[in-house]
Amino acid sequence: MNNTWNKMIYNLWAPFYDSFFNSALFLQARKTVFKDAPIPLGSRILFVGVGTGADLQLLTQKDSTVTAIDISPNMLQQAKKKYEHSQTITFMEMDAQHMSFSDESFDIVIANLVVSVVPDPILCMKEIIRVTQKEGYILIFDKFQPDNKKLSIGKRIIRPFISFLGTDIGRSFAEIVAPYLETVKQLESTPVLFNGMYRKILLQKIR
Ligand SMILES: C[S@@+](CC[C@H](N)C(=O)[O-])C[C@H]1O[C@@H](n2cnc3c(N)ncnc32)[C@H](O)[C@@H]1O
Repeated sequence: MNNTWNKMIYNLWAPFYDSFFNSALFLQARKTVFKDAPIPLGSRILFVGVGTGADLQLLTQKDSTVTAIDISPNMLQQAKKKYEHSQTITFMEMDAQHMSFSDESFDIVIANLVVSVVPDPILCMKEIIRVTQKEGYILIFDKFQPDNKKLSIGKRIIRPFISFLGTDIGRSFAEIVAPYLETVKQLESTPVLFNGMYRKILLQKIR
C-alpha cells in the first residue's frame, strides 16, 4: 500500500463507499463508538481520513470547530457535498502521515478506519499524537488483529487481495501504539463489530 495507490483506489471507491461503510450495520457500530466520546463543548476536533464524512453525522456538539482531512479528493468531495452549508467544518486534502498542523492543535482526534489503511500506521500514529493537545483524546474505530494471536491462515491468504482494495486486515494495534506508550494512555479497547475484529480504542495523551 502506498499513497498513490490509496488515492486512486479511494477515488474509485468514493461513489459506492457509503453503501457498505455507512450501511445500517456500520452506522450502528459508529454510534457505539461515539457514545460517551469525550468531546466537550467548543472542542477543536480533527477527523483523520474523513472519507465521505460518515462520522460527521454523529457529532452532536454543534459549537465545535471541525477540521477533516483525507488524501482522496473524490472521497472529500462526497463529504463536502453533504456538508456544503456547514460553516464549522474545514475540509483539507492532506496526508495523515505528514500533517501540516502545529503541535497540539486539537482537543480530540478521530481516526476511524484509517490506521488500517495508511501505508505507515506507526508514522500516522506519531502525527496523530503530535497534533493532539496534552490531556486530549484520540478515538479510533478500526479492524485490528487480536492481541497475542497469530493471523489465521485464511486471513493470511486473503490479506494481499484485501490490501489491493485499500485496507490491511493484519495490523496489530498493540504494535502500532507500542512506540508511544510513554506519551499516551490506553483508556479503552472495546469490541464493536464482527466478533471484535472491529474495535473502539480510546487513548489520552499524557505528555
Ligand atoms: C476506509 S476509508 C475510512 C473513511 C472514514 N474515516 C470512515 O470511517 O468511513 C479510509 C480513508 O482514508 C483515506 N486515506 C488513505 N490514505 C491516507 C493518507 N495517507 N492520508 C489521509 N487519508 C488517507 C482514504 O482516502 C479513505 O477516505
